[in-house]
Amino acid sequence: MKILVTGGAGFIGSNFIHFILEQYPEDSIVNLDNLTYAGNLENLASVEDNTQYRFIKGDIGDVVLIDSLVAQCDVVVHFAAESHVDRSILGPEAFVQTNVFGTFTLLEVARKYSKRFHHVSTDEVFGSLERDAPAFNEATPYDPRSPYSASKAASDHLVRAYFHTYGLPVTLSNCSNNYGPYHFPEKLIPLALTNLLEEKKVPVYGDGRQIRDWLFVEDHCRAIDVILRQGKIGETYCIGGNGERENIWIVEQLLTLLGKDTSSIEYVTDRPGHDRRYAIDFTKIRTELGWEPSVSLAEGLARTVAWFQKNENWWKRVKSGEYQQYYASQYGKS
Ligand code: NAD
Ligand code: DAU
Repeated sequence: MKILVTGGAGFIGSNFIHFILEQYPEDSIVNLDNLTYAGNLENLASVEDNTQYRFIKGDIGDVVLIDSLVAQCDVVVHFAAESHVDRSILGPEAFVQTNVFGTFTLLEVARKYSKRFHHVSTDEVFGSLERDAPAFNEATPYDPRSPYSASKAASDHLVRAYFHTYGLPVTLSNCSNNYGPYHFPEKLIPLALTNLLEEKKVPVYGDGRQIRDWLFVEDHCRAIDVILRQGKIGETYCIGGNGERENIWIVEQLLTLLGKDTSSIEYVTDRPGHDRRYAIDFTKIRTELGWEPSVSLAEGLARTVAWFQKNENWWKRVKSGEYQQYYASQYGKS
């Protein structure tokens, strides 16, 4: 299979490329990524000499470039996005540009060549759950509440519209919070972890009792692969990690794993419009495609801590430069 991966230099995309090249040595991958602050070719250093892999620097909104790449592939797996909620609050424009217009451009070209298209989306499109409400599933109505989730919701609707209107062979997935190797340290787990490794405090928003469902990134990659090869065209699959926890629980776990105490926690001003709880019911993908998460939260967190301890050079480089300015503007300190 010839796979065009968009956003493959980011966190999940790079894990997906490693996964595919290991599991299917006969497959080939073209990775299209314009290397925003979140794109990092270091994530792919170990495969850059693999003849089955090719990197192209470019924007998903560049229709001429996209045309030449989509024409040559069998499937598009679309990860490229602006992905951080806090950044979408500071500056929503790039989110609309990439997540909505960029996805639209890709869809138009996929339509021209009738190419199979898998769209990677998020549980945030469903909004915020009460503590005792049932988990999100494929039938949950959309209720996005941040510029990020609204832009992802818009792109999901476009993808479905291209299936219904033009018969484009699409699948979609909406998953919960990923974590693991190559996770960009602006997100809760890698930010907390790397701050602790630097003897800094961990910023916890509001009361820290917001709930997320945590999915180890390898399990997510396996789920996308199953959908790509066995998923039903036109269908959406919700992917969860069986790992619903309050943020403060996650932070305390990391403190324990790193031998620190709660004096490393700093409660800070809450995120505007902060969704209280996300949770995923993944019955559909389990019963129809036989996928379920295989890495427990305890194992995944231990593996993630070990990866960040071993790859200090990676995250120290990532945390320098543009990131420092962002962190200072977000938290008022460097
Ligand atoms: P990321 O921010 O780590 O990576 C995004 C990648 O897309 C980067 O390499 C960036 O350079 C690239 N990119 C951005 N704009 C581009 C453009 N215009 N053209 C080409 N490339 C561009 O994101 P991630 O966490 O790996 O998320 C990947 C996808 O999964 C996103 O669509 C996101 O919405 C979705 N998702 C993420 C999570 C999560 O927990 N991280 C959960 C659910 C869904
Ligand atoms: O649910 C899937 C989504 O998960 C993806 O679609 C997004 O791309 C991804 O970024 C992630 O969004 P969140 O906003 O849930 O992730 P983040 O790591 O930014 O925050 C997780 C929780 O931790 C959230 O409740 C906010 C809180 N938080 C976050 C940061 C960065 C803190 O308390 N302190 C922090 O410093």
